[in-house]
Amino acid sequence: MKFLGSKTIETERLVLKAQTMDEQHYLWSVLMLPEVNRYYLTVPKKLREKLKDWDKQKEFYASDMLKANDKDVFRWSVFLKDTGECIGRVSCQEAKNDGYEISNPSYRGVGWYIDPKHKGHGYGKEAAFAMMDYMFDECEIDVILTGAAVINKSSWSIMEKYGFERQDKTKMVEYTFLDEPVEDYQYVLTKEMYYAKKNSKVK
Ligand SMILES: CC(C)(COP(=O)(O)OP(=O)(O)OC[C@H]1O[C@@H](n2cnc3c(N)ncnc32)[C@H](O)[C@@H]1OP(=O)(O)O)[C@@H](O)C(=O)NCCC(=O)NCCS
Repeated sequence: MKFLGSKTIETERLVLKAQTMDEQHYLWSVLMLPEVNRYYLTVPKKLREKLKDWDKQKEFYASDMLKANDKDVFRWSVFLKDTGECIGRVSCQEAKNDGYEISNPSYRGVGWYIDPKHKGHGYGKEAAFAMMDYMFDECEIDVILTGAAVINKSSWSIMEKYGFERQDKTKMVEYTFLDEPVEDYQYVLTKEMYYAKKNSKVK
């Protein structure tokens, strides 16, 4: 794969930009909303209290921002073109399999969240599609492996619209802020599947 980093990506209504510290407090406050984090965050549960404390998180975000423009980082803040307002985040990180990182970097995972006050306008789909197009077309990744809670239809419908194949087996996932494990659909999209779908649309 090509390590081209978090290049600015424009869509019809959005601009995806490499992250800066300016919007991190806002993005953290969105991430701390239960309706955002419940089927999204999978960091260990022991970090629950620490995550909720901005004074503790600030340092972590600040050190993360030092890497925001590195060529092996694929993480964007999502802005509305019209107003310049930040509305969420999308990312494409190295894939994990049963909690273990897969050593091949061209196997990727994906993540996305949009501030609930902006949900339901198709922004999540628009940002996710643009990011994944970039990852396949320009960064030449081989595969995206991902999952979404069965109950989280707004997320897995983005995956299914994009052409991901739902696997037969579901997986029980421990989410950070939920006490009980949750059933997740598992999805795969290879570059062959991606280009087959893209070429069939072009014809
Ligand atoms: C998932 C998320 C990013 C979707 O963002 P969004 O901008 O609200 O979504 P969109 O408007 O692009 O809609 C995406 C699809 O979900 C559907 N959808 C939207 N809200 C829905 C809801 N409440 N219930 C069911 N489907 C819904 C839309 O109809 C659309 O499908 P369609 O193209 O077939 O019509 C957003 O809901 C979110 O941040 N969720 C919390 C974080 C999260 O769970 N991230 C994903 C972890 S796998």
